[in-house]
Amino acid sequence: MCSSGHAFDANKRGYLTLVDRSRGILGDTREILEARRRFLALGHYSPIVDLIDAALPAGAVDVVDSGCGSGYYAAELTARRPLARLLELDVSLDAVTLAVRATGAPGVVADVWRPLPVRSDRADAVLCVFAPRNADEFARVLRPGGTLVVVTPAPSHLEQLRQRGRLIGMQPDKLEHLDEALGARFVLRDRLSTAYDVPLAATEIDDLAAMGPSGHHGAHPGTEDASTTTVTVAVDVSVYQPL
Ligand SMILES: C[S@@+](CC[C@H](N)C(=O)[O-])C[C@H]1O[C@@H](n2cnc3c(N)ncnc32)[C@H](O)[C@@H]1O
Repeated sequence: MCSSGHAFDANKRGYLTLVDRSRGILGDTREILEARRRFLALGHYSPIVDLIDAALPAGAVDVVDSGCGSGYYAAELTARRPLARLLELDVSLDAVTLAVRATGAPGVVADVWRPLPVRSDRADAVLCVFAPRNADEFARVLRPGGTLVVVTPAPSHLEQLRQRGRLIGMQPDKLEHLDEALGARFVLRDRLSTAYDVPLAATEIDDLAAMGPSGHHGAHPGTEDASTTTVTVAVDVSVYQPL
């Protein structure tokens, strides 16, 4: 039951749907999600899980995974530490279905740009990995002293794929924009970074190209030859606290 008196029943797959799909806000498609699930299962991004694990406070139990996608990061974290009250949230119904399956946690299909279905001052942490960020709502749902963990691509992230036209361009000065967008509500406490190269086979590159924002733009024809390509993975993990 929400504070306005609305009651919702979870369906048998374990999630609630709060998005009016007739508005055309659907998030990631099944094809994008399947490409991401296949790629992430290979473990090439596990150093990113290490950083998120280091950024999340040890006692964080009530965690909202906003823009959860296939639930890879939350599932990996759950295997390492008890996240007793994890909530998987995404605007894509297919994403929430996969994330609920991967984590065993409840899920909700919700638009991050609408009021989130979470009580105020409730969450120990909000996790937002390569997903949209609503500073006001994240600040509202976090308890005082809570933690917002945001993962964003660094300038050299997947640069080899961008050079080949397999990915759309990236916003320059991403961290400055991030700090600015969150600055009215949050103070930056820490920033962890990693950058490493991985050799990828052609099929892995096809999935990598299809699983990101470029998947929505159709910029992922399977044009790789049979050789492997070295691709740079570079991300920043920013740790904020509500003001
Ligand atoms: C690049 S994916 C990242 C998914 C996941 N965090 C990961 O890294 O594997 C971005 C996710 O944000 C979701 N998303 C996009 N717009 C959204 C919105 N308005 N509200 C909630 N989720 C949204 C997409 O459906 C997608 O699952």
